[in-house]
Formats: sequence, structure tokens, C-alpha cells
Amino acid sequence: MDHARILNFLNSLQNQDSTQQSDNTQSSQESLKSLYEKITKEYSLQRARTLSREERLANHLTSNSLSYGEIEFKSLSMVFQCVSPKKGGVFYDLGSGIGKGVIAASLMHQFDICKGIECLHSLHEQACNLKQEMEQIGVYEYQLPKIEFINGDVRELDWTDGTFLFASTTCFDPDLMKQLSKKAADLKEGSYFITVTKTLDPQTGWDLCNCHGGWLRFTFNKRK
Ligand SMILES: C[S@@+](CC[C@H](N)C(=O)[O-])C[C@H]1O[C@@H](n2cnc3c(N)ncnc32)[C@H](O)[C@@H]1O
Repeated sequence: MDHARILNFLNSLQNQDSTQQSDNTQSSQESLKSLYEKITKEYSLQRARTLSREERLANHLTSNSLSYGEIEFKSLSMVFQCVSPKKGGVFYDLGSGIGKGVIAASLMHQFDICKGIECLHSLHEQACNLKQEMEQIGVYEYQLPKIEFINGDVRELDWTDGTFLFASTTCFDPDLMKQLSKKAADLKEGSYFITVTKTLDPQTGWDLCNCHGGWLRFTFNKRK
């Protein structure tokens, strides 16, 4: 979505007239952030944490990899500033929680489609509600990428159609990191795989670079 479209959209939500639009001095990033906040305002981190904890307790799931946290809008925006991928392509959030990272990515970059894979059902359900909410406020009339949420395990599903993959890996256990690394070897040339705090297993055929987004340490892997 370009800046003018975002402003138009925000103004239409606020019933402002067109003369006010031209006075609007919000930067592109601020406009995107306010749109993101409008869409996600009912979907708090606290509620998502509770849902995640309840589902794990009920099913005796003890893996550390299932710990819940969310990438901040600002941090994800840093990622896009560092990488600046080409227009189009397929974005994935591997372990997408309630889907806020997928929504943020769909606003920040013109992907063809943004997908999220999440294994906990209650979180996946919230992500689907969030998508519906986006449809209801009419944001899709503004040429956003398609959005798809998938309930499943990233170790079992195929995500090798991805060209820009993100995984909030801070709590992912070594076995999960190993399996992600193995699958990542099948990604297309030129695709990016961004991890947080941890890195994929070193392998040939990837360019590596590190970048700090606030307190987060991102690793960018680019398939040669
Ligand atoms: C730290 S949260 C990140 C949420 C989201 N990506 C974000 O940054 O806002 C990690 C998520 O990965 C999910 N997860 C962990 N292992 C997974 C697996 N094997 N398959 C799918 N999801 C997984 C967890 O349930 C959790 O919701």
C-alpha cells in the first residue's frame, strides 16, 4: 500500500474531508503504524499469552519453542529497511502466533501474499479473526497482499514457496532450529530468511549478515 493510499484510508475511517488530507504531515511509517494499531487494537499481547498458556497447559505441551511473544511493529519495520526486498513474492511468519507480524508485513511491503503458520489452534483462530476484522474495515480495497493463516507445524508443512521468511526464533529449541535449517536449504535462490537472536545452522549457499533492531538481533540469510 503506498503512502497516499494509507492516508486516504485513515482519513476515510476518520470521516475527514480531502482538504484535511493534504495538511496531514504524518510520515509514511507513522501512517502505517496507526493503521496497524487500528486493525490490531483489540488483540493484545497479554490475551495472546493467556490463550497460548491455557492451550499448552490443557495439552501438556512443555516445549520452550511454544513460548509466546510478539515482534514489535518498529522492529519488523527495521527488518524491511535493512533488507528492502523486491516487489512481489511470498512472505511467511513461521510460528505466527495471533498473526500480527503477518498483518504488519502486509502493510509494509507489496508482497503477493503473506502467510502465517501457527501450531496452537487458539492462536490460529485469533489470527483468522484478525484477518476478518481487516476485511470488515475495508482495507483490502487498497491493494494489500492476500493473507493466509495456516494451522499446523512448520516442521511438517511445506513453506519452500516462500521468498521472504521470518521466524521469531528466540525461544525455539535446538531441534526446531535444526529442522528449520534443513528445510531452508530448499528455498529459492535470492530468498531471505530472517531469524531473531538465534541463527540457522551455517551452510553453504547463504550470505549472512546481522542487524540490530532496537534490542533485537536479527540475522539475515540470503540464498545465493
Ligand atoms: C515468539 S512467538 C512469535 C509470534 C509471531 N511470529 C510474532 O513475532 O509476533 C513464537 C510462535 O511460534 C509458535 N510455534 C512454535 N513452534 C512451532 C511449530 N513447530 N510450528 C508452528 N508454530 C510454532 C508458537 O506457538 C508461538 O506462537
